[in-house]
Amino acid sequence: MILPGSASQSLAAALAAELDRDLAPVEYDRFADGELIVRAPFEADHAVVVAATVSSDAHVQLLQLQDLAGRQADRVTTVLPYMGYARQDRAFEEGDPVSARAVARAISAGTDRAVTVTPHEPAIEEFFDVPCETVDGSRVLADPLPDGLPDPLFLAPDESATGLARTVRDDYGAGGVDYFEKTRDRETGDVTLTPSDADVTDRAVVVVDDIVATGSTMAGAVEHLRADGAGRVFAACVHPMLAADARTKLARAGVEAVYGTDTVERSVSAVSVAPLVAEALR
Ligand code: R5P
Repeated sequence: MILPGSASQSLAAALAAELDRDLAPVEYDRFADGELIVRAPFEADHAVVVAATVSSDAHVQLLQLQDLAGRQADRVTTVLPYMGYARQDRAFEEGDPVSARAVARAISAGTDRAVTVTPHEPAIEEFFDVPCETVDGSRVLADPLPDGLPDPLFLAPDESATGLARTVRDDYGAGGVDYFEKTRDRETGDVTLTPSDADVTDRAVVVVDDIVATGSTMAGAVEHLRADGAGRVFAACVHPMLAADARTKLARAGVEAVYGTDTVERSVSAVSVAPLVAEALR
């Protein structure tokens, strides 16, 4: 039985179809004081909660789904297509909490097993008190790209995303891989990118990252590429969070198209990670 969180309804439906499992009739509601409630009458041996924790409300809803799953099923698996707070994977300054650990522990209390998709640092698996497995969402990112791009460059906006760019290049079947150097001002959040030496003149470039959040990183990379004479520039990311004006930033920077997966359900979610998550659950 698949139990969708309200922010993951398309992915949950795709996963139910992949696994040939039923989709629980979950209803989402709110009490007059603003508190959330979920309701889903069902019986099953195994309940799979699928909920991207894209907000604090989504996180509470996930805990509620786990609670009812634990009462109505013998076994609970929790799929976190996007795990909120995962980027706070260490104490950045003295006195900071390790928020990813706090969240992982809370989630562990309601499940026998967790599956995450491309967390910022795979090492966060260790924050869970139950077995946790990571699925590499970049494995579907080549699918929505236009066919036949001549010698495209797959570019990571920082060194840590180079592995993702390489995966997309390998799946696309042609092109090179490179990365920019990136620093971010902790006070202002401003991103500074230093382009590589690669000649991008008239070349198609696919910028690949794990997440587009504020869009500063991706838009900065696109701006550099356009200024350096790149031809078509595409943005591809696993988690299209696209907070606030991120999509506009990307458009203004000159991106031709943005492609994301359905770990965060947005209009740019062009491809589903359901087959990858299903593989992990079989
Ligand atoms: C950082 O290392 C990540 O890989 C992303 O590049 C970053 O989190 C994106 O954030 P934003 O869209 O706010 O620049």
